[in-house]
Amino acid sequence: MKIAVLKESGAENRVAAIPETVKKLTALGASIAIEKGAGEAAGFTDADYEAEGASMGDRSAVLSGADAILCVQGPDASSLSGAARGTLLIGALNPATRGDAIKGYADAGLDALAMEWMPRITRAQSMDILSSQSNLAGYKAVVDAAGEYGRAFPMMMTAAGTVSPARVFVMGVGVAGLQAIATAKRLGAQVSATDVRSATKEQIKSLGAKPIFVENVEGIEGEGQGGYAGETSEEYKKAQAELVSDHIAKQDIVITTALIPGRPAPRLISDAQLQSMRPGSVVVDLAAEAGGNVEGTVPGETTSRHGVKIMGPVQPARSLAADAASLFSRNLANFLTAFWDKDAGTLVLPDDDEIVQGIRLTKDGAIVHERLK
Ligand code: NAI
Repeated sequence: MKIAVLKESGAENRVAAIPETVKKLTALGASIAIEKGAGEAAGFTDADYEAEGASMGDRSAVLSGADAILCVQGPDASSLSGAARGTLLIGALNPATRGDAIKGYADAGLDALAMEWMPRITRAQSMDILSSQSNLAGYKAVVDAAGEYGRAFPMMMTAAGTVSPARVFVMGVGVAGLQAIATAKRLGAQVSATDVRSATKEQIKSLGAKPIFVENVEGIEGEGQGGYAGETSEEYKKAQAELVSDHIAKQDIVITTALIPGRPAPRLISDAQLQSMRPGSVVVDLAAEAGGNVEGTVPGETTSRHGVKIMGPVQPARSLAADAASLFSRNLANFLTAFWDKDAGTLVLPDDDEIVQGIRLTKDGAIVHERLK
């Protein structure tokens, strides 16, 4: 089986294979062809790949005869014209917002697999690109906030006086939020956190942070399907807003990470709440691309309102390209390994497998995913 790895375009600096995963896939019996310079922006040279058994070439050479194509961001089908019908395309294909592109894959006969729709089951944990990239995003949000904040995070007792610890509030305690809590704790901040899923309360405590939760209100359990959050009741939203208003006015840094799959990100911080914060405070809205948790967030920019800096990072994992590419590539390699048929020396994707059903968008020239039909 020949696996092609694309060089990404635009601002994308990650890559879908690293030398370590090339070695692993080669050991399975795959031959790996990588577009020249594909790993450069993430710190991996062509020589690094060749040393692990990959061949390097231009796009038409790597696509020629390929059985599967690995990518980070899904390219348009027009840029894959050298690929034969029936070739697998595996990466972050963003099906929720790229309807035309997905139709393009079907028309080109590419069998597209969207890794971000990986089901949240134990077996698939090591293949979950959302988790691996969110974890880095949570870390980066805190580091960036610390960079923008005109004060220190830890308490410092010096001969010139005491520096107070920063108060950090994390809203949304999924993968990104947990890493944000852990990072802020490591930097010495006083950390509190909230979520709609009550299961996170213990997780917050176990990281040494203080849980801030709405109690005794109908609809408190915003537990949706598959470990994700669901929509909460109006009563709950009102109680949450009041609780947050009181708390937020005392915070120096707020990191918001709240997402509800298939819906715009919930609005958690209003302009009035921003106004209640101390000037010089910093808010990082990790939901910026999904509509934002904070009123007025501009995706990709740092703006200032009422003296509060509001950061709306886009794909923050990209700023840690080497780690982001490594984890992403391992997610793909873990997927390929799990479905590798040793005897046949190729990938076998059973139609009745929960993972295959979760991520397969197109097959045999048609869109086959339930969510896209
Ligand atoms: P996410 O990125 O969809 O959302 C982030 C967080 O925001 C979630 O914790 C969610 O409950 C919270 N949230 C949503 N609306 C909110 C609101 N109005 N106010 C406050 N918080 C709100 O979630 P993520 O990070 O992808 O993970 C969610 C869960 O799924 C976690 O428990 C994680 O451990 C689990 N998971 C399981 C996997 C597996 O078993 N393969 C893989 C990845 C995650």
